Amino acid sequence: MDKDKLSKIVSLCKRRGFVFLSCGLYGGLGAVWDYGPLGVMLKKNIKDIWWKTYVEQRTDIVGLDASILMSEPVFLASGHLKGFTDDLVDCKSCKKRFKLEQLVEKETGPLPEKLSCPECGAVISLKDTPVRKFNLMLKTYLGVVDDDKKPAYLRPETAQGIFTNFGNVLNSLHKKVPFGIAQIGKAFRNEITTKSFIFRTREFEQMEIEFFTHPQESDKWYEYWIEERKNWYIEKLGISKNDLRLRAHRKDELAHYAKACSDIEFNFPFGWKELEGIANRRDFDLKSHSDLSKKDLSFFSPLTNEKFIPYVIEPSAGVDRTVLAVLSGAYFEEEVNGKIRVVLKIDKRIAPYKIAVFPLLKNRGELVEKARKIHSELNREFISVYDDTAAIGKLYRRQDEVGTPFCVTVDVESLSDNKVTVRSRDSMDQDRVEVGALSGYFKDKFSD
Ligand code: GAP
Repeated sequence: MDKDKLSKIVSLCKRRGFVFLSCGLYGGLGAVWDYGPLGVMLKKNIKDIWWKTYVEQRTDIVGLDASILMSEPVFLASGHLKGFTDDLVDCKSCKKRFKLEQLVEKETGPLPEKLSCPECGAVISLKDTPVRKFNLMLKTYLGVVDDDKKPAYLRPETAQGIFTNFGNVLNSLHKKVPFGIAQIGKAFRNEITTKSFIFRTREFEQMEIEFFTHPQESDKWYEYWIEERKNWYIEKLGISKNDLRLRAHRKDELAHYAKACSDIEFNFPFGWKELEGIANRRDFDLKSHSDLSKKDLSFFSPLTNEKFIPYVIEPSAGVDRTVLAVLSGAYFEEEVNGKIRVVLKIDKRIAPYKIAVFPLLKNRGELVEKARKIHSELNREFISVYDDTAAIGKLYRRQDEVGTPFCVTVDVESLSDNKVTVRSRDSMDQDRVEVGALSGYFKDKFSD
């Protein structure tokens, strides 16, 4: 466990504009974070690759953008109203609240009568302060007149918008099982444990696919999605395979809807934790929505002349956890000429800026002008940034810290030979490149 690394990442995120505490002006809002200019670019790049891989480049998955606010019957049918709870324990001494699972190992059998408070060490007697169920959903009321107000919920998973639209998609696009519906969007949970930066937050984003299959084919597709999703992190985001592992859920851990579930875990600075869950949700959701709404959500297969409610395999990934995994895996401290260089070796496909352009001397007008011109030309093809607000060494360090793969420096010689220095983030090697050849040079660099 490397808690120190996490605090360094949190500090870098604030210093360099990746992630800020939400409502920080007023002391912050617990477990809610804002993405700054660099963070939003990184997050967008991750979401774009996911969308491209599954919605744009496949013919068996379509996209959806359902609403965040959803009505009560949705969560009655889904089981969230009743079952989406955490077991909560209060410490009478320090007044802190904990999830029961923080205090006892699930495998240890029946609950002990007394527990020890992890915060102040006091004894918590479960006789005096019994375990309480705490629903994690955020509830609100819609309507202007008090008597007429209707309860609504901020969805705790994007999935329910997919299930409630299953019939609409089926009818409008004539999809045939197996097929999937994909969605990226916000979800909300009133989490109790909230100490691990953007790992567990009350407002977060998910990238979910509900992949509908014939019941007899669900096991096959379950295995397929586990492999597919694990490889996606390695092949598309450049996450090291050594930082990923699979963990199948025990029967007693399974959510109420699941036949089976496996987590893709990442080696975060605070240990191996869930990055994504892949579940076989059976026909639980479609069946419940069908029963409660009295709408037929079955699928008729003309091939086999069979009518059935599809099973669903659900790869459910957290965007914020993926951002944290990318940052954790990419964070390095290296000694260069007796000084520590902090560098984010983010895969160049998802790095916020691809190129940074600087003039070597900011008080030489011709250098500034040339550098600005090069920047605006490169920026048409590659997301680039221009900076002249510090000395060259500092400019390099800044770009290393935000993971910019290449820096271009315009120096005095550039004025006569029309060449610039291109410095690589990872190797720190430098190439001298003709200005007219820069576009081709970078196309090459970003194509592998
Ligand atoms: N639809 C299934 C579902 O929501 P989950 O395991 O509760 O399953 C899926 O969540 C993913 O969403 C998790 O693997 C995680 O990446 C992300 N996630 C869940 N709760 C989160 C939270 N409080 N903060 C950040 N990400 C969260």
